[in-house]
Amino acid sequence: MVELIYIVSHVSSESATVPKSSTFTSMSAYAPFQPIVRQILDQLAVGGPIRSTGGTFPASDYADTSHLQHEFDTLFSGFPQAVALSPDLPEPGSQITRDGLGLPVVLTRDEEGKVHALANVCAHRGAQVVEHGRHCSKRLTCPYHGWSYQPDGTLVGLPDAGSFPDRTTPAPGMRSLPVVEEHGVIWVTPSFDAEPPSPGLGPIADDLDHFSITTHHHWRSHRFELDLNWKLVIDTFLEGYHFSTLHRNTVGPLFVANLCVADRFGPHVREVLPRRTFASLADQEPEQWDLVPHTALVYVLFPNTVFVMQTDHIETWRVMPHPTDPSRSTTDLDFYVPQLPETDSALRHWEANWRITIDTVIEEDFAAMAGVQRGLASGALEQITAGQNEPALAMFHQSLVDAR
Ligand code: FES
Ligand SMILES: [Fe+2]
Repeated sequence: MVELIYIVSHVSSESATVPKSSTFTSMSAYAPFQPIVRQILDQLAVGGPIRSTGGTFPASDYADTSHLQHEFDTLFSGFPQAVALSPDLPEPGSQITRDGLGLPVVLTRDEEGKVHALANVCAHRGAQVVEHGRHCSKRLTCPYHGWSYQPDGTLVGLPDAGSFPDRTTPAPGMRSLPVVEEHGVIWVTPSFDAEPPSPGLGPIADDLDHFSITTHHHWRSHRFELDLNWKLVIDTFLEGYHFSTLHRNTVGPLFVANLCVADRFGPHVREVLPRRTFASLADQEPEQWDLVPHTALVYVLFPNTVFVMQTDHIETWRVMPHPTDPSRSTTDLDFYVPQLPETDSALRHWEANWRITIDTVIEEDFAAMAGVQRGLASGALEQITAGQNEPALAMFHQSLVDAR
């Protein structure tokens, strides 16, 4: 799937109809990336992949029902999940629903700018308070009988209050989940009694600050219902080994195939995939090096969100397992752009980006992964292998092993 990153970037850079100032993110040089640039330039000079640690992992992890249950019990109830970016709640009163967390959740931003994560369950008789989607209002009002809540979940109004003599207002209402917003990312731990999320991003936190997530705007979402184990969606991002084969007629030519730099920080993974234009950085002083236009910067925000810094926008891919079937999953794609399109040409630019992203991922990556899922479920293979040229893949799976 990484390839579509390139298509998107390529389309963006070819789109001469949109003034650059209106769509492109201008990133300055960022010192922590200098060693990565140097490493890639050195490798480009000699050719071939940067070899690191590979590994083997059980094929049954993709198809075994009891393993899926184990993942729910460990990864998906115990770990904080990156469920949204700050631009998803752009102003006081913003609300956005989230599913895939084991219970219906609504995220809100209150008058002071603080983010809350609430079980989207009415304190009266359990109705869904906020309709699926994005909204903005001072109160959350249940559509069933009209009980209303503040953004922090406090019950503040109920029609015919005299019929509920035990309910005074204000009073506790919708239950809160542990949530934290930091470095432009909103994390929720879907367990009422858990500690506040502590994602432990390490140096990735500085990378996210460098990308100025908070100055972006959410533009569009798409939900994919897939016949794939959730991990296969993430796996497709984690190597460039397949670019010159699976994507030879699409995005493959835009990249340096089979070359990446990967790092693991706690359970999270950062992967840098160079584009063909990367070699031009050799003509610049290190103080001027800016990775963003010449790479795909892929982050696995463990366990289930892929964050991609593109040349001109941000994407997140939030992957959710099916509750009972290991061969199915749901993925939400979100696009965040530096400026919402206000002209026809800007709109055409983003529509073209969007269309090619969706088409490529469906026709190439997900089509191939559906075959992989059948293969892994067949019992014909005991282990999958991550080569030494696929270190990001090995790191993600090692994080999964470590989390067991
Ligand atoms: S269930 Fe929400 S007001 Fe009755
Ligand atoms: Fe791909």
